[in-house]
Amino acid sequence: MPTALVTGATQGLGRALAEALAVRGWDLVVTARDADRLAQTVSALRDHGHDVVGVAGDVSDAVHRDAVAGVVTGVVTGPAGPDGLDLLVHNASTLGPLPLRPLGDLSTDDLAAVLAVNVVAPHALTRSLLPSLEAVGGTVVAISSDAGVEHYETWGAYGASKAALDHLTLTVGAEVPSIRAYALDPGDMRTALHQAAFPGEDIGDRPLPEEVAVPGILALLASRPANGRYRAADLLATTSEVAS
Ligand SMILES: NC(=O)c1ccc[n+]([C@@H]2O[C@H](COP(=O)([O-])OP(=O)(O)OC[C@H]3O[C@@H](n4cnc5c(N)ncnc54)[C@H](OP(=O)(O)O)[C@@H]3O)[C@@H](O)[C@H]2O)c1
Repeated sequence: MPTALVTGATQGLGRALAEALAVRGWDLVVTARDADRLAQTVSALRDHGHDVVGVAGDVSDAVHRDAVAGVVTGVVTGPAGPDGLDLLVHNASTLGPLPLRPLGDLSTDDLAAVLAVNVVAPHALTRSLLPSLEAVGGTVVAISSDAGVEHYETWGAYGASKAALDHLTLTVGAEVPSIRAYALDPGDMRTALHQAAFPGEDIGDRPLPEEVAVPGILALLASRPANGRYRAADLLATTSEVAS
């Protein structure tokens, strides 16, 4: 069975993607901070009949990341020796302090905390798991945002972190030819993170993660195009054109 690590897999996009992978026969390692919600998620994912392990913790915590890397290595090591990690999804993310605020009102500690979750943690996990990814020509998917390309007022810390995440992800792809590396813009999604960015606003017109982002990621995994930055909506449109 292919094996994936999805960070931040208890709600929103991470949860929906983990569900879609479990349905398709993937073994999973999933993470999030809230241990109770993680246990419920693991239990639900196991209903699909495959191995699912949860590791509770904050991706910005190096001790937690070491535990995650240890669990992944254990999961992908079979009786015949170490196998590999087929998919690493950097999904866990923070917006930073809320409400979102202009850079002039953002402390250096706040910026550092955003970078710790959205940039440093994915790099550290990729680095730890690179041998497992290389063993099977695995795939790294970093969940990005249009805020990593556009310059929206008050989104500076988050946007800069996504730009940095994109850059690191595509650089590791250039450095390690045996793996594929993608920065994936999921588009706006009706999730807790999106609602937190737009407090009090009706976000009911945004698609759920399973409507565009997850099918887009599944299309990416199926087609394995050249390393690069992709938008889920574009991947989905291409898939629909091919199918029709
Ligand atoms: N929603 C959008 O419109 C949108 C648009 C563009 C890009 N994105 C990106 O899409 C990804 C998923 O976002 P979402 O909207 O699905 O978010 P979400 O609904 O808020 O879910 C976030 C998940 O990540 C976990 N998480 C958050 N911080 C974490 C940390 N420090 N360490 C470990 N786990 C953590 C959460 O669980 P715990 O709270 O228990 O840790 C939860 O499982 C993110 O990378 C986000 O930047 C979202």
